[in-house]
Amino acid sequence: SLKVVTIGGGSSYTPELIEGFIKRYEEFPLTDLWLVDIEAGKEKLEIVGAMAQRMVKAAGIDCTVHLTLDRREALKDADFVTTQLRAGQLSARVLDERIPLSHGMIGQETNGAGGIFNALRTVPVILDIVEDMKELCPNAWLINFANPAGMVTEAVLRYGNWPKVVGLCNIPVNAVVNEAELLDEAPEKLFFQFAGINHMHWHTVMDSKGVDRTDELIKLMYGAGTNTEIVANIKDNNLIFEQVENLHMVPCPYHNYYYHTDKMLAEELADFEVNGTRAEKVKQIEAELFDLYKDPELDYKPKQLEERGGARYSEAACETITSIYNDKRTTMTVSTRNNGTVKDLPDDCAVEVTCTLTGNGPVPYNFGSFKPQERGLLQLMKSMEQLTIEAAVTGDRGTLLQALTINPLVTSGDVAKQVMEEMLEAHKEFLPAF
Ligand code: G6P
Ligand code: MN
Repeated sequence: SLKVVTIGGGSSYTPELIEGFIKRYEEFPLTDLWLVDIEAGKEKLEIVGAMAQRMVKAAGIDCTVHLTLDRREALKDADFVTTQLRAGQLSARVLDERIPLSHGMIGQETNGAGGIFNALRTVPVILDIVEDMKELCPNAWLINFANPAGMVTEAVLRYGNWPKVVGLCNIPVNAVVNEAELLDEAPEKLFFQFAGINHMHWHTVMDSKGVDRTDELIKLMYGAGTNTEIVANIKDNNLIFEQVENLHMVPCPYHNYYYHTDKMLAEELADFEVNGTRAEKVKQIEAELFDLYKDPELDYKPKQLEERGGARYSEAACETITSIYNDKRTTMTVSTRNNGTVKDLPDDCAVEVTCTLTGNGPVPYNFGSFKPQERGLLQLMKSMEQLTIEAAVTGDRGTLLQALTINPLVTSGDVAKQVMEEMLEAHKEFLPAF
């Protein structure tokens, strides 16, 4: 038997995952998929779970989809555990976005004060899951896509002492597909090398003749008259060409928040007036998706799921799992232990880098050192992450205020403290450490 447990199984993204497993059934003969959620997610779990069961049936594969609220029952003897939970659900994300915005700061689920509070809520839940895994499935791999995925992965490595963890994000997957198209090449003919941390990485691209195509790509993406869209949740991806050209590396779309903070804030404020925050928009998309999922005739992933920023995340997830299972050695960009891959960061931290995915997990391609252009921001962000994780584990307010203070998207001083107090209060139900 082959058992996968998905925690946060009631997510609207679950059909993505099912599609990915169906596609790979021959190389990954999944017999039991356990979708786990909590009481508050019960209704969603039942709807999307029934949809998952229909998809599996339509595909004619011999796999049972189990639905449960009992995480420990599900985890028993699992081979792979995937985590896609959202601690506090979308309502907590609304607050992560709204509260900073009300103080004139960017409100975002993985960046700024919102990202920090998302980590404070999520890290303890994931560490709890790891404790259950030690007891119930000590040989399983943990494949995490719960955000903020980089911090969560590092918390599992350093505080959970669980080495068998891989952190995932769809940004590198999307970048490869879109940028190969821009370069008019087949993706498999190109070698993309990513380095950095989750949602704060840069990459280069080389073709099969060994020619570095990065500068050409930068022109195609950011030169005059271009308009590059990479993920659905970050519409405007127009950085200043001279600055990006100077990097000789392609930044990830989240760099917009750091390279173009004022513009991003102005856009977010304008959008907020009309549509509310992204989380509120996502709530709407979710409601529509769940209406579709309720249709007893629907047995495939609907097109509308592409409106979510995480499109193609199952490519990363299912390919990572099958690659570990079969020692396939697929090239994939994932969050893993640094071990000297990026010289500018500590060995024991999590980095998001291009790896070969072996039966023994990710083996990173060595990267070396960044130039000052990237290094300063990267080290600052990693320090901010480490302080955040420490605060999540200890509940120490001084450490938390420090993380907020050095975060480039958070105004420092009294405003930082005020945002901290407001968010601690708003999320207190999900922050038992504080
Ligand atoms: C990107 C990121 C994900 C994030 C998603 C948000 O794809 O890689 O980490 O969860 O966007 O999309 P949403 O539709 O929830 O705003
Ligand atoms: Mn991501």
